[in-house]
Amino acid sequence: MGSTTATALSALVQAQLHSPSPIRQIMKMAERANILAMGLDPADVISFGGGWVNHEAPEAFRQAYVDVVSDPVTFHQSGAYTATLGDLGCREQIARFEAHLFGVRGLGPEHIALGMGSTQLTKDLFTTLLDPGDTVMLLDPTYANYEGQLAFVAPNLKIVRLPVLDPDTWTYRPVSDPDGVARDFVRLFDAHKPKLVLFGAPDNPTSQIVPQALAALMLERTAAAGAWLAIDFAYKCQYFEAPPAYYAWSPVEHPNVIGIHSNSKWARGLGRRLGWIEAAPAVIDGLERVLQCSILCPDTLEQMTMARYLARAIDDGSLRAYVDHANALYREAARVTLDAIDMHIGHRRLTPSGGLYTVMDVGRNADEFVPEALKATGVLVVPGRGFGASIANGVRISYGPMVTTPERITEGLRRLGAWMRQ
Ligand SMILES: Cc1ncc(COP(=O)(O)O)c(C=O)c1O
Repeated sequence: MGSTTATALSALVQAQLHSPSPIRQIMKMAERANILAMGLDPADVISFGGGWVNHEAPEAFRQAYVDVVSDPVTFHQSGAYTATLGDLGCREQIARFEAHLFGVRGLGPEHIALGMGSTQLTKDLFTTLLDPGDTVMLLDPTYANYEGQLAFVAPNLKIVRLPVLDPDTWTYRPVSDPDGVARDFVRLFDAHKPKLVLFGAPDNPTSQIVPQALAALMLERTAAAGAWLAIDFAYKCQYFEAPPAYYAWSPVEHPNVIGIHSNSKWARGLGRRLGWIEAAPAVIDGLERVLQCSILCPDTLEQMTMARYLARAIDDGSLRAYVDHANALYREAARVTLDAIDMHIGHRRLTPSGGLYTVMDVGRNADEFVPEALKATGVLVVPGRGFGASIANGVRISYGPMVTTPERITEGLRRLGAWMRQ
């Protein structure tokens, strides 16, 4: 027998395997086998780790599935391909959704590309917009997946971080102070000339909403420089205060602005994959070419049911009522979380403006703190480092999964506090 050559994975994948996301690592640590190996009872573990919602999807939406699946004709249709950008009727309903809930004006199907959730769409959007060597500006901290997504898109992409959290004061930095975020943005933008600026509204992990003044400055600079401004609206429907004016921005008025949207969080459709991009028609055309090679078409059943549900729920007012009700649930879960942190732990934390999270200062390297806390208390939180250097000493606490069991939130934070005070 001759010798065989080891069959290698791509260099890029090998490199990425060696830099796994710290969040994935932690979630792995919380798997059942590891919990048992730590001597803990899995039933006793309280996890603040999950970035997911747990309210119920609209009943009328579930009924739309029943209707489609129970009729042999529509069920057969749900097994067909749609257009690569998605079914026209569903894209029209998504445009109505945005006008109805947020006052986005002038949107039509030509501004919308549907996909299999915002994760897939974000990566394909990066492919659509970026060339090797381009620079992307992200907030620090921000959603941990962007870096990996960028690494898979093109070689030598550079990331420049705009610090928005002050780890000394544990506050979201003011925009317009003499040494506020606006000044840093202009300095970094001029020095690095990013092709794309991307932020989340509200952001993950901080649940802070970038103020209108900063978004307006970003718009002005990116538009003048011929750069893109993308806003990740994964949590757009979870807002605890009046949304800023940019929630209504449309690619019709601002052709360099791109919205990244998801049905995961508002409709509790995390695993029923459906999301969309809102952008100028030229971006949608480019994205269509990319989508032809990545998904061919979005999931037809999801599109059919979403289109049917929205067509009725916008007209009869039940969509607005549903979103308001879900918002009230998360606002209350956020309040319970903050009260429990203040009462049982007493460390600095941010007040969420929406979304599913808060971040808390633990005053030491959270990569060490988190496994120690899990072992000692059976409580899981996420270390901050994966979101950015500014919260290396902080943890993300997600109240999303426990939105209907607030007593678990209080119990988890009580346990954590008792251990931290020892
Ligand atoms: C900021 C942000 N964007 C995108 C996503 C992924 O959403 P999707 O389920 O649509 O892929 C998440 C999920 O946690 C997120 O936090």
